[in-house]
Amino acid sequence: MLITLPDLLPAEQVLQCRQILASATWTDGRTSAGHVAAHVKANRQLAQDDPVARQMGALITQALRRHPVFQSAALPAQILPPRFNRYEGGEHYGFHIDNSIFRLPVEATSQQALNSSASTPTLLRSDISTTVFFSDPDDYDGGELIIQDTYGEQRVKLPAGQAVVYPGTSLHQVTPVTRGVRYAAFFWTQSLVRDDSQRSLLLQQDIAIQRLIREGANPEIVSQLTGVYHNLLRQWANP
Ligand code: NI
Repeated sequence: MLITLPDLLPAEQVLQCRQILASATWTDGRTSAGHVAAHVKANRQLAQDDPVARQMGALITQALRRHPVFQSAALPAQILPPRFNRYEGGEHYGFHIDNSIFRLPVEATSQQALNSSASTPTLLRSDISTTVFFSDPDDYDGGELIIQDTYGEQRVKLPAGQAVVYPGTSLHQVTPVTRGVRYAAFFWTQSLVRDDSQRSLLLQQDIAIQRLIREGANPEIVSQLTGVYHNLLRQWANP
């Protein structure tokens, strides 16, 4: 399942972030790639402990918490702090599949431990990938995110402030940026529901229920379907 979030960040916030990104300190993206991915990766990234990355990452995470479509589609259990990349002058990232397991940064873990008495896992399974676009498509050539999914190849190049959400299992690449600069954020989410097809069924049912409510359907039917939704989620969720 591949979905786009057309209204994740307001234009004003995107503009501020882009100004910050333009003057940030960038490092070679290969240092954070796995052994195999490093051979196909040529871009630059912000260091994960860069205060600028943390500040803008927090903005994105807050926006996701408020976003009903992301919540309904991703059913997030944990979100890894967003990272930021920059492509220009022919930089690209060839076809690859992202790592399956990530370690949560210590500060994210301790922050969650403060908010909850439950023991906090320090490892995160990357069920879902998200890319947030910070450059407008007219400002650069190339730089398409190409994702192989069950229905073939999807080519994604969204306006600034929009995001694409797709399964972490997908083969994907970023084509060379041949003019201008492409800034983006990317991050992984561990979902309550590991399987993409199960998440997709839950999303479709949720959309149908919301539509019935909007159209003033019989509350008893809505309640019955909502109960089925929750019983499916109970069966499939792995919090
Ligand atoms: Ni990737």
